[in-house]
Amino acid sequence: MKILGISAHYHDSAAALIVDGVPVAAVQQERLSRHKHDAGFPLEAIEWCLEHAGLATADLDAVVFYERSMLKLERILTCSLRAFPRSWRSFPHAIRNSLGEKAWVRGIIASYLGVPRRRILFTGHHASHAAAAFLTAPTRRAAILTADGVGEWATLTVGRAERGAGGATSIVLDREIRFPHSLGMLYSTFTAYLGFHVNDGEYKVMGLAAYGRPTLCDAVRKVIHRTSDGGFALVPEYFEYHTGASRSFSDAFVDLFGPARHPYDPIDLETDDGRRFADCAASVQRVLEDTLLDIARDLRRQTGLGDLCFGGGVALNGVANARLLAESGFERLFVPPAPGDAGCAIGAALYADRIYFKNRDRDVPDHPFTGPSVDADELARVARDDGQQVEALDDDVLLDRVAGDLAAGRVVGWMDGASEFGPRALGHRSILAAPHAAAMRDRLNRDIKSREEFRPFAPVVRAEDAERYFELPPGGLRLARFMSGVFPVRPEWRARLAAVTHVDGSARVQALEAPMAPRLHALLGAYGERTGVPVLLNTSFNVAGEPIVNRAVEGYSTFRRCGIDALVAGPTLVTKRAGTPPRSMREVYA
Ligand SMILES: [Fe+2]
Repeated sequence: MKILGISAHYHDSAAALIVDGVPVAAVQQERLSRHKHDAGFPLEAIEWCLEHAGLATADLDAVVFYERSMLKLERILTCSLRAFPRSWRSFPHAIRNSLGEKAWVRGIIASYLGVPRRRILFTGHHASHAAAAFLTAPTRRAAILTADGVGEWATLTVGRAERGAGGATSIVLDREIRFPHSLGMLYSTFTAYLGFHVNDGEYKVMGLAAYGRPTLCDAVRKVIHRTSDGGFALVPEYFEYHTGASRSFSDAFVDLFGPARHPYDPIDLETDDGRRFADCAASVQRVLEDTLLDIARDLRRQTGLGDLCFGGGVALNGVANARLLAESGFERLFVPPAPGDAGCAIGAALYADRIYFKNRDRDVPDHPFTGPSVDADELARVARDDGQQVEALDDDVLLDRVAGDLAAGRVVGWMDGASEFGPRALGHRSILAAPHAAAMRDRLNRDIKSREEFRPFAPVVRAEDAERYFELPPGGLRLARFMSGVFPVRPEWRARLAAVTHVDGSARVQALEAPMAPRLHALLGAYGERTGVPVLLNTSFNVAGEPIVNRAVEGYSTFRRCGIDALVAGPTLVTKRAGTPPRSMREVYA
């Protein structure tokens, strides 16, 4: 059976193709359209998935959309009406948006893809998150937790799931918390208040939190109350997002926390305001963690299960994930590589396969490499045409050369095989560098990523070496597989891993097993032989404001526009000639 899953129209559109129960292709639209967080209908992603599998739309047994769009329309209309007349300005906008595209998804899919309307199915948004987390994890029975901004009405669900033999797969979400009460919206409101872009700057809030003290938790608890049933409720007077006003927090919110940060003001931790913003970040982070932890502990008590699968955008919060693993009572925590809405494309398709069509249970590959493959010949061609030094090397020689470059302080663009699905570079589209000196972190932030200096970089380490350098709790290696947890760097290694150790001594480490990305694993070994420390700095291969590179030409364009010294795709090694002036994207593509 061939099932296409689609996630679209909110943020991070994506398509995924399941053939005989196994994902064979999945890609985010932004990687192909080159518009970061592209939310449009993912036609290019769909076309790539079908082409990759050699299928036409007529071959599809079903196309599954990742949420019930009419329920979402009901929520948007109901909230707009409830907030009237405060919502009068946003009402026409909400109607236009919903009636324009979101509500009529079946017709859009039918007309874009030419599939009969009866083959178009819908899953609940949080059912998609739950399926993406559970049906891709190597577990047969688990408790389920999902948390995000909002889907149709639900913002957080809990339940349990089981993969049975003979097609008896079940995912049951027993309880939900509904909009406008939302942990994702709470965090996003603070993201906006702290002057960052919502749906993009949440990482920055988590990074900033490490510089602050959670001194404002009591104030945060005034805007989010705990309820007697173990849930939570946001206090409406502090929020505006549900009324569609131009900002998400209210005057009462500003009275409580002080003036908001303007996006163009620098964060100076030497000033009272700078420290207040860091303390706000630390406090909302702490309250988020405590709330999730209480819900997870209840879930553990109620289900008695050892495994927890966690999905939804809130599961990108690696600090919270690490606390869930260490303190909730669950023995193992599974967070997929794409827990956010993009991952719902895989989730929706798997949900339809296992539960709607009742197809038999199948193991799913335990890696995120489902996107387009990089073409090493294309890289060689583009780089030669541009007058750069290009070599084709055997793997042993290449790995040794690259390890030597890294040990000498050079920065390497690393492209290998199929691209990752999800927001993180996990070894196939990475910028790699030596992790030892803080100066490397500052150089990467300044010359390559053009981003705020308080944001940390992540390390990648061979799984077999991870516990030597990082304090991983039981189950930590699994959480570190897809970089889903933040853990302490062992104190004795912090000075030698300064470029990847955050100000609070932590790191969002990826622990890499050889079968997942064998060439990067071998490179870590070669680097370890030279330096004694098989750890590298690993950051996503993109510059600020752009999606992660996909094709070789995009990697090359990025290489030419910033301070990357060498570039690898397959056997091709490109070394930047000294004194080469930077080129614009347009020149490279021309
Ligand atoms: Fe979501």
